[in-house]
Amino acid sequence: MLNNKSKELYEEAKKHTPGGVHTSIRNVDPQLIFTKSEGAYIYDADGNKYVDYQAAFGPFVLGHNYETVNERVIDALSKTDLYGVGATDLEIECAEKITQHVPSADQVLFCNSGSEATYHAIRLSRAITNRTKLIKFQGCYHGWHDYVARNMLSAPEKIGKRDPGSAGMMEEAIDNTLICTFNDLDNVEDTFNKNKNEIAAIILEPIPHNIGCILPEEGFLQGLRDLCDKHGALLIFDEVITGFRHDLGGYQNVSGVTPDLTTMGKAMANGFPMAAVAGKEKYMKRYNTNPGGDVWFAGTFNGHAIGTSAAMATMEVMEKEPVHKHIFELGDRMRSGIREIHERLGIEAYVAGFGSVWTTYFMDFEPKNYTDLMKNDAEMYVAFRKKLIERGFFKMPMNIKRNHISYSHTKEDIDNTLQAIEDVLKELV
Ligand SMILES: Cc1ncc(COP(=O)(O)O)c(C=O)c1O
Repeated sequence: MLNNKSKELYEEAKKHTPGGVHTSIRNVDPQLIFTKSEGAYIYDADGNKYVDYQAAFGPFVLGHNYETVNERVIDALSKTDLYGVGATDLEIECAEKITQHVPSADQVLFCNSGSEATYHAIRLSRAITNRTKLIKFQGCYHGWHDYVARNMLSAPEKIGKRDPGSAGMMEEAIDNTLICTFNDLDNVEDTFNKNKNEIAAIILEPIPHNIGCILPEEGFLQGLRDLCDKHGALLIFDEVITGFRHDLGGYQNVSGVTPDLTTMGKAMANGFPMAAVAGKEKYMKRYNTNPGGDVWFAGTFNGHAIGTSAAMATMEVMEKEPVHKHIFELGDRMRSGIREIHERLGIEAYVAGFGSVWTTYFMDFEPKNYTDLMKNDAEMYVAFRKKLIERGFFKMPMNIKRNHISYSHTKEDIDNTLQAIEDVLKELV
């Protein structure tokens, strides 16, 4: 597979942008420049075609350049855009639809990225409880801001210890975010007991997809709900990945556990910039979009016609068509196909996943938390992915990253991927 044009363009990109890319972990080897996308496929500057499982880290739940969504956006832009005053008909329709589907969402506010949404949810939880501390789980990612940018993909010796993700962070912000172990309720309870009346909220990805796919054990999410109620803290589900992708009502609808606040983004508008914070009315009314509210909420581009029309179209496709049935069936086909290959080739590996998301950890048991993932063979994990890229199947060539299936993927795409996986594993093992 030639990538001369990609290499040339990448050199050019580096002249104008530090590292050539506009988000930290887009800088990978091989460095490819993509120029075209349609449905389940992306194409690089040299014309190579890939079945895309990266899905831009998750937004493309229907597929790239999905006609129904694109047409709705174009139609909206032919008559409207953004006013910066009052509300628009699109905002009203879109907010109503979200509140119909997402159990915790009595009310919703729009913003443009998942990081903004988690920032707003955390600030609100601090205002409501009059407390400053926050519980976050090792390995989870909730955006780039100081409240949450610690203990993400920590080195083994930093697990659970003080591990800020960036230079320049406020010391107070780092120290007010406490780190717990996913699937360990005793650890969370102990943290509450050691910080009596100081914890404002727990924030979590109900399925930590930023480290692949770690499923919550039976009772874990309900246990967090109960601990929050007992200790007067708010429960925030960060459904930026799980929302809309796993169910129109988010993973909270699947698990039956309702958080106080929910953050959403990514798949909500099938690739267009759109995010939201939602929650119980008694909390949401504290935002100063409500006259008298004392929690600041603002954003010049909030509620733009691009995001609201794209989100409406995405949700309507999900309401009318068997989107989740299709992506869940393909997810099952992929997982069972890979397990069958492992069995045939005598490979010890754990195929993890939920619905349209899956990954293969090269380890011999089901991981329950980030520490368990230190048993994953990182070298093999990345080599496996790179070899699939060479064959035209794009998975992020990085350790413990997930893959996504969209409504545009077909059984044939899955079967071709399985054949390539078998060929690559035969080469590597
Ligand atoms: C669970 C989760 N929350 C929040 C964010 C931040 O979203 P954004 O990159 O849109 O700011 C991400 C991004 O990957 C995420 O995965």
